[in-house]
Amino acid sequence: MCGKHKQRHMKELTSNELRSLYLEFFKSKGHKVIPSASLIPENDPTVLFTTAGMHPLVPYLLGEKHPQGTRLTDVQKCVRTGDIDEVGDSSHCTFFEMLGNWSLGDYFKKEAISWSFEFLTDEKWLGIPKEKLYFTCFEGDENAPKDTESHDIWRSCGVEDDHIFYLSKEHNWWGPAGKTGPCGPDTEMFIDTGKPKCSEGCNPSCSCGKYLEIWNDVFMQYNKTEDGSFVPLAQKNVDTGMGLDRTIGILQGKKSVYDTDVFTGILSKIEELSGKKYGEDEEFVKAFRIVADHVRCSTFMLGDEKGITPSNVDQGYVLRRLLRRAIRYSMQLGIEAGGLPQIAQKVVDQYKDVYPELGENNKKILSEIALEEERFTKTINQGMKEFDKLVRYLQTPEIPGKSAFRLYDTYGFPLEFTLELAKEKGFTVDVAGFDEAFRKHQEKSHEGAKEKFAGGLADHSVQTSRLHTATHLLNAALKKVLNDENIQQKGSNITAERLRFDFNFPRPLTDEEKQKVEDFVNEAIKADVPVVCTEMSVEQARAENAVGVFGAKYGELVKVYNIEGWSKEICGGPHASRTGELGHFKLVKEQSSSAGVRRIRGVLEDAQ
Ligand code: ALA
Repeated sequence: MCGKHKQRHMKELTSNELRSLYLEFFKSKGHKVIPSASLIPENDPTVLFTTAGMHPLVPYLLGEKHPQGTRLTDVQKCVRTGDIDEVGDSSHCTFFEMLGNWSLGDYFKKEAISWSFEFLTDEKWLGIPKEKLYFTCFEGDENAPKDTESHDIWRSCGVEDDHIFYLSKEHNWWGPAGKTGPCGPDTEMFIDTGKPKCSEGCNPSCSCGKYLEIWNDVFMQYNKTEDGSFVPLAQKNVDTGMGLDRTIGILQGKKSVYDTDVFTGILSKIEELSGKKYGEDEEFVKAFRIVADHVRCSTFMLGDEKGITPSNVDQGYVLRRLLRRAIRYSMQLGIEAGGLPQIAQKVVDQYKDVYPELGENNKKILSEIALEEERFTKTINQGMKEFDKLVRYLQTPEIPGKSAFRLYDTYGFPLEFTLELAKEKGFTVDVAGFDEAFRKHQEKSHEGAKEKFAGGLADHSVQTSRLHTATHLLNAALKKVLNDENIQQKGSNITAERLRFDFNFPRPLTDEEKQKVEDFVNEAIKADVPVVCTEMSVEQARAENAVGVFGAKYGELVKVYNIEGWSKEICGGPHASRTGELGHFKLVKEQSSSAGVRRIRGVLEDAQ
């Protein structure tokens, strides 16, 4: 079952071949190949982007039936922006593809591990000599036992004892992707690069670079709940993840992912446009990489089936920041305006066979990039002059928040951009002051919201929880005021500044209705009711008339948040503990979102 192992010339393997081999292998093991889901997660207000292959599959890991069955494999486009400042080094990218295979309550450790071993070592597949491979297993803690089972299965595949290590939760546990959700112990696979050990105790948990991780098999058998406990799932799942770019870099023995075939075409386009050679001048290496990475990521965002465009909120803000950063670094390379769309075209050509949406949205991708380039280049030079002047005359090492806000408001400099420029010149920025100026401006205009650029994850800050509770009250208010029990949530998105709620309703709300909705929420706040969470079965929740999408998304156990007398809803949380914490609710805007769907934006003022 574990396959034969003979050597193969890994250096010849391309990224396209690795992608196809992986899917083909799992197809041969009875898996259905499913297409990559959108980069924008469905029904998940806490996350801006899809960050792992398992992300779109969460409902199925929790027990929902997948139409394609219980064995799935795919390559998923992902975005992780938490480490954006690291992009430019040898390994960080904001966009990546993740290969994965899933068992939804079907096979478990024995098959998952044996197949991983076969794919890695068999000459028909990757043919990596087993002597080069190292493995880690979970050492156990109060939540889950030591994973001797995985250890024994690796052994039965022919792995020597001294190639297997037990490590702590910090290393050998994966998930949940958000604050709550499916998770479990994992077993990870590493390649020995041949470098000498950095110390006597050097093992795969060490970051010295001797051992590089290429694959992770997660045994998802727990659901982490709001109170931090791990509840066993009704079904035992397998979730595996292999980062395509990273793995191909390791297999090809390259020092950097930017030296692999993944980036060859994109970098040579940048060389052509800049008249510079990548790698020749150390000074420009970082700029080359940032432009390559950011244009690739932006191209996928613009070309996504749920396509986004540059804006000042949410995903659009992330995209704007990526593009503006790419523009700035392309200027450093001497690339003229009009260059970025040409680089994006290279990305489209390289990926459109695997991701047809890029070909379908080709025109839009190029025109949106050109437009943003135009918008930004108009003001960037003036903005840079303004910035230089600012730091030249500054008496303190800190740039005032008001000045940072002016750069944002007048010259379109995202805050992070100013932070970066400031850092380069040895200054800091008064971020709190920026936030205050921003908030004042926002109160004036009552629209627009700044989304924090934090790993794609809108934070679970206190304010977010309060807005989440306000969303439940709003949902209940709409049903009551519009006297329509069929009103359903069609989407929800919360940032630290505001809530956004979509619901089905055929016409605009009248001013009177809007006022009544606002009043309902504020009355509930005044009543200072506790927000109580109870876990129960879906059936029980239904019997108690809890609001929620039944059947479609939930597994056996669900959480019901009850605001006695006001609202009862199935939900993952988190929430405020009492309505009294919410301050004052203001319905800022009510508008059409799409046919038959209305959208409300609301804020909380004076929350304590
Ligand atoms: N979900 C696991 C990961 O992202 C496989 O590593």
